[in-house]
Amino acid sequence: MPVTATSCPAWSIAGYLEVHNGHVTIDGVDALQLVQNYNSPLFVFSEQRIRNNIGRLQHAASVVDRPIKFCYASKANSNMAILKAVLDSGIDVEVNSGGELFKALRVGFRPDQIIFNGTSKSDDELDDAVRAGIYAINIDSIYEIELVEKSVERLRAQGEKVAPARITLRLVPEIGTRSHLGLQTALLTSKFGISSSEVLAAFRRGLQRPDLVHVCGIHIHVGSQTPDVEPFAEAFKSMWEHLVTIHNEAGHTLEHINLGGGIPVNYLRDRSQADDLPEHERDMLGAELEPVAVLTEALRVARESARAANAEHLLDYVTILLEPGRSVIADAGLVLTTVRNIKTRPETGDVWLLTDAGYNIMLSMNNYKWYYHLISASRADAPYAHDYKVAGPLCDSGDVYFDIEREGRLPDYRKLPEGVAPGEVLALLNCGAYSLAQMFHYNGRPLPAAVLIRRNGKPELIRRRDTYEDLIANDTGY
Ligand SMILES: Cc1ncc(COP(=O)(O)O)c(C=O)c1O
Repeated sequence: MPVTATSCPAWSIAGYLEVHNGHVTIDGVDALQLVQNYNSPLFVFSEQRIRNNIGRLQHAASVVDRPIKFCYASKANSNMAILKAVLDSGIDVEVNSGGELFKALRVGFRPDQIIFNGTSKSDDELDDAVRAGIYAINIDSIYEIELVEKSVERLRAQGEKVAPARITLRLVPEIGTRSHLGLQTALLTSKFGISSSEVLAAFRRGLQRPDLVHVCGIHIHVGSQTPDVEPFAEAFKSMWEHLVTIHNEAGHTLEHINLGGGIPVNYLRDRSQADDLPEHERDMLGAELEPVAVLTEALRVARESARAANAEHLLDYVTILLEPGRSVIADAGLVLTTVRNIKTRPETGDVWLLTDAGYNIMLSMNNYKWYYHLISASRADAPYAHDYKVAGPLCDSGDVYFDIEREGRLPDYRKLPEGVAPGEVLALLNCGAYSLAQMFHYNGRPLPAAVLIRRNGKPELIRRRDTYEDLIANDTGY
């Protein structure tokens, strides 16, 4: 019989992230036991939570009753076991490099389950994608069409039998969101995509050599952690209108509209420190947006525009693609970290806790001053009434859990139970996306292990901790 949680703090998620006898548990597994077995810092993921998050997307597809293809944005986390869990849940994948393509194929995604984004694809990467015959290569500029054509020609010249490459044009229509500027990707100031004024020329160019490339779709990704439905709807409408124009002008009907990723995750389920954040950060980080609302609104505006253009029949041919990353994996993962050192600053009255988890394993905390809620893994339900300065282990003043630039983008102090001391294990929540995938070895710090709690409740090592030998594995010349 499942043991019921002994308390339910705001950050908890019933059946997944709970408190039992004061300890944080993940799918029933005690966080402290995990640290004992696998050391610290440690990434912990839940396979069931990944399934549930994907299930939420699939439910949205069933509600709108349209053909929808979900391509998990593997940049969010491309650990092989995570990719396999995504594959097993029945959705497809988006890759952004030859390396992610290699991983997707190796883990067992079929080529027709793969789409390939990216601004700077190399010839080798294009050759791999063309050779595999993937579902779509998302084209980032008019110039890139020629690169894909050349790839097809090159492979054929080498005697390889390759079909015309399926390409999708990525647009940048100047649509803003309320996310970080660094996460917005549909503004003209962004490096991505083809400008609206060049879209028709790009399509004409793409249709010139049907023996080499087949233009199958159109794509806009408005950006990550987009808290509102409007940018998605505006993007969908823009793509839909281009689809109609291309149909009318060239008699060419696109097969899919790709609305990108960006469905937000609520990082502020526990709002005890939300007031310490600037209002726009609070709104963005605390966003609750159901995928079904995104799809419903996007289709509503497209239908309205289709009716006006007398083109409703075209909508029936279109498959909608979504590339969710964060919404699949962010809240399915957390970081367990141990307090290694403590100090007081009598001058300021501050107590400093120095952990073993730095920004080299959670880059967004530094890049975007991203808020990950921090709790004690052993005293999860104690009163959180004491203020601490918290920092990581790196030799960099910026490796802190507050905003060193004094712009107030993170709380100055983290609230934890009284008397936190070295040895206490803390948990940073919602760390599953854009963390493990962005880790680096700064300061010669071996990268942490990762554990996946399987659906049967058993923890499994999915990434072994680096050894010191790993640190020098690629170095030569000494
Ligand atoms: C093209 C593209 N698709 C999908 C995503 C995934 O976005 P998210 O993780 O916010 O769902 C990204 C990331 O920003 C992206 O650049």
